[in-house]
Amino acid sequence: SIDISKLRDLSGAVTLDQGYKNTGACKSEITFLDGEEGILHYRGYSIEELAEKAHFLEVCYLLIFGELPNAAQLLEFETHIRRYTLVNEEMKSIIDGFPKTAHPMGVLSALTSALIAFNPSAVNPENPDELYEAVCKLMGKFLVIASWTYRKSQGFPLNYYDNTMGYVENFMQLMFKLPTQPYKANPVIVQALDQLFILHADHEQNCSTSTVRMVGSSHAGLFASISAGVSALWGPLHGGANQAVLEMLEEIYANGGDADKYLDKAKDKNDPFRLMGFGHRVYKNFDPRAKIIKAAADEVLKTLGYDDPILGIAKKLEAAALTDEYFISRKLYPNVDFYSGIIYRALGIPTDMFTVMFAIGRLPGWIAQWKEMRLNKEPIGRPRQIYTGYPLRSFVGMDKR
Ligand code: ACO
Repeated sequence: SIDISKLRDLSGAVTLDQGYKNTGACKSEITFLDGEEGILHYRGYSIEELAEKAHFLEVCYLLIFGELPNAAQLLEFETHIRRYTLVNEEMKSIIDGFPKTAHPMGVLSALTSALIAFNPSAVNPENPDELYEAVCKLMGKFLVIASWTYRKSQGFPLNYYDNTMGYVENFMQLMFKLPTQPYKANPVIVQALDQLFILHADHEQNCSTSTVRMVGSSHAGLFASISAGVSALWGPLHGGANQAVLEMLEEIYANGGDADKYLDKAKDKNDPFRLMGFGHRVYKNFDPRAKIIKAAADEVLKTLGYDDPILGIAKKLEAAALTDEYFISRKLYPNVDFYSGIIYRALGIPTDMFTVMFAIGRLPGWIAQWKEMRLNKEPIGRPRQIYTGYPLRSFVGMDKR
């Protein structure tokens, strides 16, 4: 017989904070976020100013290297990224191994991981040259393979990076260029995408970024850590929400546009349905990125002459939620993903690519956070637990079970 009283109760020695709602896991100089006031800064610059005045590659440089680049640094960064946009031909046979129906996020995660096989160095963050090469390599190849996940799902031939175009415009031609035809992206679309990528570029210790830091804390390499971040982003409570929002809006529209019915479902505690694109772990006020995106959605749709009834549904739902006691009392506001899908749709991006778009935008943030974590020499991440299982018991032989 077992004396349970002899088992030590370790629970008093451990702080339990499921979901890390009040636990800081690191110190960081990258992103400042005040959720009560709805404020977001990258390296001290407000998100509003960056979204209005900067380009995505400038913001990538700012996040990863700490300061805005001057013209020469930016040119060199862009040129260096371009140098690495050729993806090993053997990666294509990996892509061919996936069924056409595979979700692009699953393919992106696998391909990012597969890049390690062709770039085996774990990347020493303390060697600035090695780090710079790895950053440019990852930024170049990630964009190309992200577009390939779509080309594959459509059964289209794969496109290659066009050295005459910028980084964001290249994404459009990688996605949509038809064989033998020249491609010129609509500048309105390129500008909107550039802004969306900036808005998604970092968001301090969110789920995918924490995953990147956690995986990296074991000194797994940069590419392996980023691949883990892609998987974490995929979930519908995180980056996957942008796809879920659009599917929800389409469903509401298809069912006659009754926003109130869906609000009631979201409020019903016996119904697992949540209003996708609403609520945020940290923002208890309007998400500043959502404000910018909302204005951009109106502008882009107007400029492209795209009359989308889904935008009408979104506005109706937002207005209803913002005046509903359930949402007011819980401080549930639209988040960045509530409007991003509407713009992606207007730009011709297919729904199951929305989270891939998020990943392209978030890549510099993941890299910056990985670098900071390693340079700060953070210890391996290893949370404790409170054990709630059996005390020690005797093994039961097969004949007695
Ligand atoms: N619809 C209905 N009720 C909600 C929603 C929602 N979208 N979000 C939160 N609530 C309710 C919860 O049921 C809970 O109610 P209760 O106090 O009566 O139990 C209360 O608000 C607090 O919610 P929590 O789940 O404790 O909040 P948490 O911080 O853990 O979750 C999250 C944040 C995951 C973002 C949540 O709001 C959610 O699921 N939203 C929908 C998915 C979404 O849009 N995700 C994208 C987030 S932004 C991003 O990752 C880029």
